Amino acid sequence: MSDTADRPIDFSRIPHPAPVPGASRDQAIADPGFGKVFTDHMVSIDWTEGRGWHSATLGPRQPLSLDPATAVLHYAQEIFEGMKAYKLDDGTMALFRPEQNARRFNASADRLAMPHLPEEAFVEAVRQLVLADKDWFPTVEGGSLYLRPFMFASEAFLGVRPAKQYKFLVIASPAGNYFKSGVPAVSIWVSGDYTRAAPGGTGAAKCGGNYAASLVPQANATARGHDQVVFLDAVERKWVEELGGMNLFFAFDDGSLITPPLTGTILPGITRESLLQLAREEGLQVREERYSIDQWRADAESGRLLETFACGTAAVVTPVGRVAGHDGEFTIGSGGAGQVTTRLRERLVAIQRGIAEDKHGWVMRLD
Ligand code: PLP
Ligand code: COI
Repeated sequence: MSDTADRPIDFSRIPHPAPVPGASRDQAIADPGFGKVFTDHMVSIDWTEGRGWHSATLGPRQPLSLDPATAVLHYAQEIFEGMKAYKLDDGTMALFRPEQNARRFNASADRLAMPHLPEEAFVEAVRQLVLADKDWFPTVEGGSLYLRPFMFASEAFLGVRPAKQYKFLVIASPAGNYFKSGVPAVSIWVSGDYTRAAPGGTGAAKCGGNYAASLVPQANATARGHDQVVFLDAVERKWVEELGGMNLFFAFDDGSLITPPLTGTILPGITRESLLQLAREEGLQVREERYSIDQWRADAESGRLLETFACGTAAVVTPVGRVAGHDGEFTIGSGGAGQVTTRLRERLVAIQRGIAEDKHGWVMRLD
């Protein structure tokens, strides 16, 4: 659905009457972990059929009051994004490819029968929040301000049809490492019983329902002592797709690098796309190609496969050391971070942090 009113959106500003005191904030951002600490403000914009987007506000972060019949609580009409603001080496605040998140948000909106938010409004909302909460950047090494834009059906109505009212919100959360630090590589469990996305389903959209469906397989992986679950395709139960919240790459001894193609059942990761470009520039033979679970094991065992890594906004680039499933387990390379993984991670992080030249125009400075 396209937006009915494509005009610029003006934000009202309501400063927080009682922001978190400096000393408590400093304590909270010293080692925030992931997803547990939240800043003082949030952005909120409403959409109503016939009126379009309205009531844009940058105000105090506060609880929402929802009618028990609110459509999202029943039919899960909800989408979200995950992105980060960074403090560059020179202290400037910056976003990484925010227009890509805005574009993917609207692609998700299409799949969930929701209205488009103009890309400029999405980026402006995020920008305003980062500027308002600029004192919340974590002080921990590798820290950033994780941003969570999301939209949900806010109409109180129990009929099954696209809602006529939506809320778009952006909240921010100081973040350190997604995985506990000190772990050289993550271990993953191959989900044999559950799939994540079927052809024609919502796998390529970033909607809450996909993550709800991944919780049982993720919990199974955790119960077996693994960090993450990896999903196979839903048709042949053979092709490696992605993790619950990250894309996968495989690096081989002949200098080739492959990642599963975007066939509609995996999320088109912005980190994935950025790494594809960086890897090509590094001279790697990059292919978007299907890769089977049996081949993965065979290549790991023969030594042809040197490395596997997971990537995403939250996880950045994380080596996969061990893979286990109902058919047993195997180790990849030395079980730790390999050269390709390390090199690509360093290149990406250097661009995101303003240490390396931003040749691609990926970094949006905010002040
Ligand atoms: N795949 C899934 C299912 C995800 O949730 C994410 C994280 O957002 C990714 C892949 C990686 O996407 P991105 O690199 O845009 O963060
Ligand atoms: C992200 O990397 O931003 C994600 O959305 C993954 C997970 C935290 C849901």
